[in-house]
Amino acid sequence: MTTTPAIGSVGVLGGGLMGSGIAEVAARAGLPTYLREVSSELAARARQSIERSLAKAVERGKLAADARDAALGLLTVGTDLGPAAAKEILIEAVVEDLAVKNALWSEASALAPPTTIFASNTSSLTIAAMAVASGRPDRVIGLHFFNPVPVMGLVEVVPTVGTSTATVDAVLALAGRLGKEAVLAKDASGFIVNRLLVPYMLDAVRMVEQGVGTTADIDTAMRLGTGHPMGPLTLLDFVGIDTAVRIAEIMFTEYRETRFAPPPLLRRMVLVGWYGRKSTRGFYDYAQDPPVPTDLGV
Ligand code: NAI
Repeated sequence: MTTTPAIGSVGVLGGGLMGSGIAEVAARAGLPTYLREVSSELAARARQSIERSLAKAVERGKLAADARDAALGLLTVGTDLGPAAAKEILIEAVVEDLAVKNALWSEASALAPPTTIFASNTSSLTIAAMAVASGRPDRVIGLHFFNPVPVMGLVEVVPTVGTSTATVDAVLALAGRLGKEAVLAKDASGFIVNRLLVPYMLDAVRMVEQGVGTTADIDTAMRLGTGHPMGPLTLLDFVGIDTAVRIAEIMFTEYRETRFAPPPLLRRMVLVGWYGRKSTRGFYDYAQDPPVPTDLGV
């Protein structure tokens, strides 16, 4: 019987909401990790956000102080692609744009050993569309985490028609090492979770547009009426309104079903820079404590 060697080191591309979380869980799992951002300013910001998240875990008694120090010792954050590409798996979590992701895969494929697995954290793009740029179609796979990564227990593992069994096995084992429960999903836009979740969140926006309920009442209704930990509009603020619009556009292009179409209100919020929590304003204003619903003019 042949066994697939375990993945022993992790490169992460993109240190935004998701990339920082992925790098944090990898380092916490004892894996040498290199996180690559595009500028030293963004790299410093990513490192700070990981340090804050680790400090919070220590405060809440979820992580021992020496485990935090060990994780920080295994983590390097910088702007070079080489050290990231030299790891045994390279996980990309850059903006939801196929051209950007593929440019990065082409660049990385010239630097990475041929054995390095390339995994994408995309929410809605087709994984197979990255196979050619990667130069290693048998080692390309979707590895879709959930926000916030250190807290959420699920990861979707998405092989393409060309992904080898050895790659799938290695990635499933990595998911376990990172403390996540893995589900296998077909390479169809949105996989399992977003195929169900995205139309639901977009319908909530359409209800705001139509005046069916206020932002606060729609969120309260879904929280208390269905036991969801947060309402759909709060969730959109968590995801990032800009990212949600990109995901909806990609899924609408794929399926041509109006339930995936980004509502005009969401596009307008992006135009004025209301990206949700990360820009301090979205459906709620996070500069206030507790956050108050934004006047959306509808
Ligand atoms: P974000 O906007 O918070 O972060 C993206 C980061 O990528 C930025 O910091 C940007 O500077 C960086 N970046 C851009 N080009 C780069 C390059 N060439 N090399 C290195 N870094 C680069 O976005 P977020 O939310 O972290 O999303 C990233 C990916 O994860 C997207 O594909 C998204 O669909 C997916 N995703 C997002 C979730 C969410 O809840 N926001 C959940 C699961 C997946």
